[in-house]
Amino acid sequence: MVNYDSVSPVGFPIPYKIIEKANNHLIKNPPQEHEALLATLPLQPSGTPNFHPRQPFVLYKGAWIGKFFVRGALAMEQNFKSCPTDLLLVSSPKSGITWLKAMIFATLTRTSYPLDQHTLHTHNPHQCVTNLERMFATGRSQIIEVIPSPRVFNSHFPYSVLPQTITDSDCRIVYVWRDPKDVLVSMWHFFGKIMGGADKIATFEQVYDSFCQGVNGYGPIWSHVLGYWEESKRRPEKILFLKYENILQEPVKHAKQLAHFIGCPYSEAEESQGVVEQIVELCSFQKLKNMDVNNNEILSMSANNISPSYFFRKGEAGDWKSHLTREMVVRLNTIIEEKFKGSGLKI
Ligand code: A3P
Repeated sequence: MVNYDSVSPVGFPIPYKIIEKANNHLIKNPPQEHEALLATLPLQPSGTPNFHPRQPFVLYKGAWIGKFFVRGALAMEQNFKSCPTDLLLVSSPKSGITWLKAMIFATLTRTSYPLDQHTLHTHNPHQCVTNLERMFATGRSQIIEVIPSPRVFNSHFPYSVLPQTITDSDCRIVYVWRDPKDVLVSMWHFFGKIMGGADKIATFEQVYDSFCQGVNGYGPIWSHVLGYWEESKRRPEKILFLKYENILQEPVKHAKQLAHFIGCPYSEAEESQGVVEQIVELCSFQKLKNMDVNNNEILSMSANNISPSYFFRKGEAGDWKSHLTREMVVRLNTIIEEKFKGSGLKI
């Protein structure tokens, strides 16, 4: 086991990027043993284009997921052992995971360093908290075993796709969801940037249509949200269910709730010294967006090289108003309301 005091200038948990650098001899070839099974999974129907023309979704356990990540799911199923101290951050893509990663990371490491010299100034939130399925899809499963506890990961998998070692364990999950209309808009812009321009991907109207049919990454989005919602009602002490728009409205309240849920609540002294507000400020959209680390580096994620700046666009609620026609809003709202009926959830 690497002595991280010698390689990490930061407190626990250590940013994933540092752990990987110290352990890169543990990276193996991507797993190949599930290729035959992968080849049998249904492909997304024609006429439901997604954002990534070269990476069609396959249907796995009721969700539309890129093959790359299903490969990760299958390897994870086989090899992942969760610990009760693990913390899993989950969302449907473009629902606020970058923000959540920053908030959790800052909360856990708040006593290690003065906040104005915090790790988030030198590491993008995605370099602090890694994506679990990507680790397995890219042959990094052995690195997972050397991550010191408490381990923090993120996942985009629906609850039904999480391996049993997670759903049967005592580990905690923080889930964040967002108005699906804003998710769609955010995704549209994100993939436009990744693919080198909006003209390189399907039109907004086409992907809107796929989205309404439930064909989006890790979707249908309503099943994604409902899966965690139902489970959070059953196990509220283990699954914290949050909404992006609510965090935007009351960030301090949510920062306290997060800290309490993950087992490191703010002390009275911290509250009176304004530490909660400082954490909120450090992780705020404007602060992160303007940091050099979130503008200059290139992140290697899945099959794409991504600038961290792509994760910071507007950071607002309601941008759908400038992208969807009235008819589009009505159609999508009606679908979601129908799916949410009786659950107690509202957009
Ligand atoms: P927009 O594209 O609507 O601006 P994810 O992190 O799950 O990929 O989601 C990205 C969305 O979260 C983007 O939404 C991005 O701007 C927003 N976001 C990123 N960091 C944020 C922060 N600190 N506060 C609020 N929103 C943030």
